[in-house]
Amino acid sequence: MNGLRLLGTGRALPKEAFDNDAMTRYVDTSDEWITSRTGIHQRYFCGEGETATTLAIEAAQKALLASGLSGDAIDCLLVATSSGEYVMPSTACLLHQALALRPEIPVMDVGAACAGFLYAVETARALLIARGGRHALVVGAEQMSQLLDMSDRNTCVLFGDGAGAAVFALEADAEYASVCGTRGDMAIKVGGPRRSQPMAMDGQSVFRFAVSTIPQCVNQLLEGTNLTLSDVDWVVCHQANQRIIDASVRRLGVAPEKFYTNLSRYANTSAASIPIALDELREQGHLLPGERYIMVGFGGGLTWAGVMMRA
Ligand code: ACO
Repeated sequence: MNGLRLLGTGRALPKEAFDNDAMTRYVDTSDEWITSRTGIHQRYFCGEGETATTLAIEAAQKALLASGLSGDAIDCLLVATSSGEYVMPSTACLLHQALALRPEIPVMDVGAACAGFLYAVETARALLIARGGRHALVVGAEQMSQLLDMSDRNTCVLFGDGAGAAVFALEADAEYASVCGTRGDMAIKVGGPRRSQPMAMDGQSVFRFAVSTIPQCVNQLLEGTNLTLSDVDWVVCHQANQRIIDASVRRLGVAPEKFYTNLSRYANTSAASIPIALDELREQGHLLPGERYIMVGFGGGLTWAGVMMRA
């Protein structure tokens, strides 16, 4: 089936954590409001010398080490990010240089907001198949703090910085299913003329989109297989809001323990949230051979993507 198998993961967070009380330095908010509306307790923000690039490098080095591969074995490198240090060179090019990977491989950033990591996984698989390669390094790296207006309480408390990385191998007998899509919508936006506008978001509209998208992606991935959710060991969603995850759990009628969550510690790290979660799952001894997992990303665009794999 030419699917992907996960060989190694890594993650990197900035040094400094900001708990909800620390956010009251910037905006009129409270631990009670943030915790009850989102489930978030703290987030990390980059400090001096820390960027999406430095986080990507640290996470990728750890993933390579965990995979047991040398950089020479990597046949394509993709970085999902909306907050790279430079528009050009891409974060992927900077990472490629830092890791001293082979020059003649495809290397690029993928922009699909919080669905970016899974868009990058899907693109990496297609590149490996098209070019006859074997191994892909896929990274989600974000410095969301540089996109935020720290005086806007509607957004600044929700996001955090971080990076996660994964090394995949293309294998003929590896299970793989994917869905993705988009619908143009300005519910979350950053940029504009001279990239001057910080993030603005219609939270309730994104919320409604997310709670319908997660169950839809999960059901589409299972459609046409003989599988049900009871055959799936883990669902790893983009980590935006605990209430979005809880609503998805209810709609799908599954045990909440099947949904991995860590957003209380990191807030929404956009394209980094899924690979960070994969790394934590592996660290905790999960994603063992035979375990099946579904990943679902959703975000600005609006975009969505789902991938089902077996460890
Ligand atoms: N602290 C205190 N009060 C706040 C804060 C805050 N940080 N933020 C907003 N409020 C206030 C609002 O001003 C509003 O006050 P008002 O009634 O006096 O006008 C009140 O709280 C209620 O605001 P709502 O928007 O109704 O709050 P809601 O319950 O919808 O929660 C939230 C807002 C958390 C943003 C929710 O809508 C949500 O999680 N949406 C999804 C957002 C998301 O997932 N985004 C990321 C996905 S895409 C991507 O990752 C790029």
